[in-house]
Amino acid sequence: MGVLGASGYAGRELCALVARHPGAELMFACANEQRGATARFGNRSVTFLAPDDAPLDRAQLVFSALPHGASRRWVDAAHAAGAKVVDLSADLRPGNGGGGSAVPYGLTELAREQVRAASVVANPGCYPTAVLLALLPLLVRGLIAPGGCVTVVAASGVTGAGITPRQDLMFAEVSGDYRPYALGNTHRHLAEMRAVMRALDCDADLVFTPHLLPVARGILATITVPLVEPLAEPLGLWRSHYASEPFVEITGDVPALRDVVHRNVARITAHMAAGVRAPTVVVVAAIDNLVKGAAGQAVQNGNLLVGLDEAMGLPA
Ligand SMILES: NC(=O)c1ccc[n+]([C@@H]2O[C@H](COP(=O)([O-])OP(=O)(O)OC[C@H]3O[C@@H](n4cnc5c(N)ncnc54)[C@H](OP(=O)(O)O)[C@@H]3O)[C@@H](O)[C@H]2O)c1
Repeated sequence: MGVLGASGYAGRELCALVARHPGAELMFACANEQRGATARFGNRSVTFLAPDDAPLDRAQLVFSALPHGASRRWVDAAHAAGAKVVDLSADLRPGNGGGGSAVPYGLTELAREQVRAASVVANPGCYPTAVLLALLPLLVRGLIAPGGCVTVVAASGVTGAGITPRQDLMFAEVSGDYRPYALGNTHRHLAEMRAVMRALDCDADLVFTPHLLPVARGILATITVPLVEPLAEPLGLWRSHYASEPFVEITGDVPALRDVVHRNVARITAHMAAGVRAPTVVVVAAIDNLVKGAAGQAVQNGNLLVGLDEAMGLPA
C-alpha cells in the first residue's frame, strides 16, 4: 500500500494504520514540502518521497490524503498505474464534482457492496461521516419531515484543519476557547451532506454550524431532526439499523470524545425531544475525525477494495 500526503494529519494516521496492518506493507509515503524528511511508523523509519518518485505501479492500493484540488490528478495517475485508490479529499465526493460519477461514495455502512466492486472510492469528509451515520436510519426509512429543517451543531478538534500553520489555530488562540466558524450555513461539507441526503430522497433543508474545539482530535455533532411521526423507541431504531455493523456503537449514555478517539467507531445516541409540538428527535454522534472520519474509514474501504476482511488492521 502507498500513501500520498503522508506528512499531513490524515496521511500520518494512514501510515500508522498501514504499518501495523497484518495484511499490508507500506510501500511508499509521499510528501510535498516535507519530501526527504523521515518519520517513524510502528518500528519502521520512513523517508517521504516526492509524489513524482512514488512507485505507483508497485502498490496494489494507494491512499491519497492530498488537499482538495491537488488530489484528483494523483488519483488518476495511481489508477492508471494499476492501483486501486481511496481518495480522502473532496475532489470525487458527491456535491463536489464527483456526484453521479462511477466512483462510489465510501460511507462504508451505506455503500459496502459498491465499494467492494469499485477500483476508486471517494472517502467521506469528517463532519459528513458523523452527520450521515447519525441520520442514516431515518434517511433510508423516509422518516425526516419533507420541507423541514435538519439542524446540526458540531464541534471538531484542531487537526480537522490540517497541518499548515495558521495564527488562529495556535495554542494560545484556541486554548480555553470555543467558537463557531463558517457561520451562515457556508461550510464546504454542506454540499456533500446535501447531495447524499438528496440521493436518499430526503427533501429537508440542512443548517450546519461547525465549532472549533480546543482538543487535538474528535468530532461531536448534535443533530435536531423534524420527523414525519414520533418514534416510539428511537434507540431501538438505531440499534436494529446498525445491529451487524462492527464500527457503529449505539448507546443510551451520552457519547463523548473520550469514547471514540484513536478508534474507528461512530458512537451514536438518539432521544425524542420533549416539550415541542412537532415530533423531533435529537441525535448525537461522536467520532475521531482522523480515524473513522478519515484514515480508519479509508482503510475500511481499502480492505474491501482489495478483498480483505473489512475490519482488518483497524482499532475497534
Ligand atoms: N484532517 C482531517 O480531520 C481530515 C478528515 C477527513 C478528510 N480529510 C482530507 O484529507 C486530506 C488531507 O487532509 P489533512 O488534514 O491531512 O491535510 P494536511 O495536514 O494539510 O496534509 C496535506 C498533505 O498533502 C501534502 N501536499 C500538499 N499539497 C501538495 C501538492 N500540491 N502535491 C503533493 N502533496 C501535497 C502535504 O505535504 P507537505 O506537508 O510535505 O507539504 C501533506 O502531506 C484533505 O483532502 C482533507 O480534506 C482530512
